[in-house]
Amino acid sequence: MPNLTINGVLLEFQKGQSILEVAIDNAIEIPHYCYHPGLSVPANCRICLAEISQPNHKTGQLELIPKLMPTCHTVAAEGMVVSTLTPKAEANQKAVMEYLLINHPVDCAVCDQAGECGLQDYSYEYGRSHSRFEEDKIKNPKKDVGPHVLLYSDRCIMCTRCVRFTKEVTKTSELMVEGRGGTEMIDVFPGIALDNELSGNVVDLCPVGALLDKDFLFQQRVWFLKKTPSIDGITASGDNISIEHNEGVVYRIKPRTNLEVNQWWITDEVRYGWKFVHSENRLTLPALRGAVSFDRADPAAAWDATMSRAVDVLQAGSRNGRIAFLASPMLSCEDAFLLGRAILSIDPSAVLGVGPVPKSGEDRTLDGGFTISCEKAPNARGVRRVLEALAGTAPARRPTGAPSVCDANEFLAALTSAGSSVALVTGNYPSEWVDEPLARALAVRRFVLLDTLPNRLTSLAETFLPVATWVEKSGTFENAKNRLQSFERAISPVDFVKCEGQIALDLATRLTGSPAAIYDAARTRLEMSAVRGLEIFADQVRHPPLAHARASDMVTVEI
Ligand code: SF4
Ligand code: FES
Repeated sequence: MPNLTINGVLLEFQKGQSILEVAIDNAIEIPHYCYHPGLSVPANCRICLAEISQPNHKTGQLELIPKLMPTCHTVAAEGMVVSTLTPKAEANQKAVMEYLLINHPVDCAVCDQAGECGLQDYSYEYGRSHSRFEEDKIKNPKKDVGPHVLLYSDRCIMCTRCVRFTKEVTKTSELMVEGRGGTEMIDVFPGIALDNELSGNVVDLCPVGALLDKDFLFQQRVWFLKKTPSIDGITASGDNISIEHNEGVVYRIKPRTNLEVNQWWITDEVRYGWKFVHSENRLTLPALRGAVSFDRADPAAAWDATMSRAVDVLQAGSRNGRIAFLASPMLSCEDAFLLGRAILSIDPSAVLGVGPVPKSGEDRTLDGGFTISCEKAPNARGVRRVLEALAGTAPARRPTGAPSVCDANEFLAALTSAGSSVALVTGNYPSEWVDEPLARALAVRRFVLLDTLPNRLTSLAETFLPVATWVEKSGTFENAKNRLQSFERAISPVDFVKCEGQIALDLATRLTGSPAAIYDAARTRLEMSAVRGLEIFADQVRHPPLAHARASDMVTVEI
């Protein structure tokens, strides 16, 4: 492999890489603003300039290129010697920082970006400690540019990342550069809002606080947020995300780079789809049909009474015929496995079905390869995979010819043909999911419902058990491309809810008298991998990188 030297370190590189890309790959810091790996390279911010010497191709002697060169736009070459630490390069960094801050309001105290701002960081690393600018600053306006995004023009450093994103990635071109020189600014075209399915990504791309997320505006200082790596729990894309939360409350979701899945982006649907987690309508206490509400002061009694009733209902149902289990595509693979196993332990011939999978249009793949999934549930494939494997292990009392696992439509017919009078039904969708035929079919049966939000089944259920959303538990989802990805719990379950896997373990304890067990996703995957058809859970689940807590160098002052 060819070599070059950056800031005194000898590095290998691949042909075609820019100097900046080699530096980033090797964790050598070269300041940069306009460069982003998912966008074209305009080399307009000029802070990445370096002094470069390269071998003369006749004599082999190193020759200094007389002017500073942009490392983002200069292709690495064998024998190059690059430095961003020379007096000339450092003088350029200081000059660029001074220029960028001339009209900047320096309003960090009220800026959402403070704490994760490229201007703050580079100002500290590469800028001056004081401003020499004495004239009046140009004040550019604040603008509401779209349903999710605000533009604070006077904080903009004109890196044009946002403009290039709408031009090159979404190809919607809502943003543009207006004016020239010192009065240049970013704007939307007249009458056109920044309103596309990926609009929130411009906020992540903006290295300063010029483009802000309305939803996160003034909600939290970013240094209070903890980041848990996770997977999209709203659609079948399997997008890699980071859930940012503090004291049990989710504040925002950001994309996590995975070039094989979502590259650097997520859709607005995934970015804002978590709101049902903290919905004021969220059901958080178990309930029994026709009984007075349980006392919130004693949730253990509520769980005890409802779980007893659930076991009675399911066992009575199995004595009178086949029981049924409708597993939501919102469940994790582990939840589906534990619930499916519990149901089959009561009735090995139980009717198994995957709940409705909401869809909207067709999958759309953008030119750069990012796919917007039409399927609005994260794990239909994983739930089906698990149930099919469990059905394959059940004794031969299963009727021949019947699908081993039904889809939502087949499930209703199977309920009737199997004479099922009792069912276990799970929801956990972010919005209304129960259609009229399902509601009618269940209204004449006894059923146990595991769900998060009220719907037309809630008051009909013999027993209602409130469950945790995907941010409140750990597990695995299988995306539309059959990629299995695990995720970790970001926040504790709200109020008295439990994850479906824990409810399944509690059911098993009551059914078999086995010792009480605490749900553990990794241990469940290990158990799953021993089942024929689920061996892939042993070694083919991709795990997110471990979140490392960053030690703060600030002393905490007790007030
Ligand atoms: S608004 Fe942000 S991303 Fe867009 S040009 Fe300005 S600084 Fe760059
Ligand atoms: S990052 Fe190289 S010029 Fe902007």
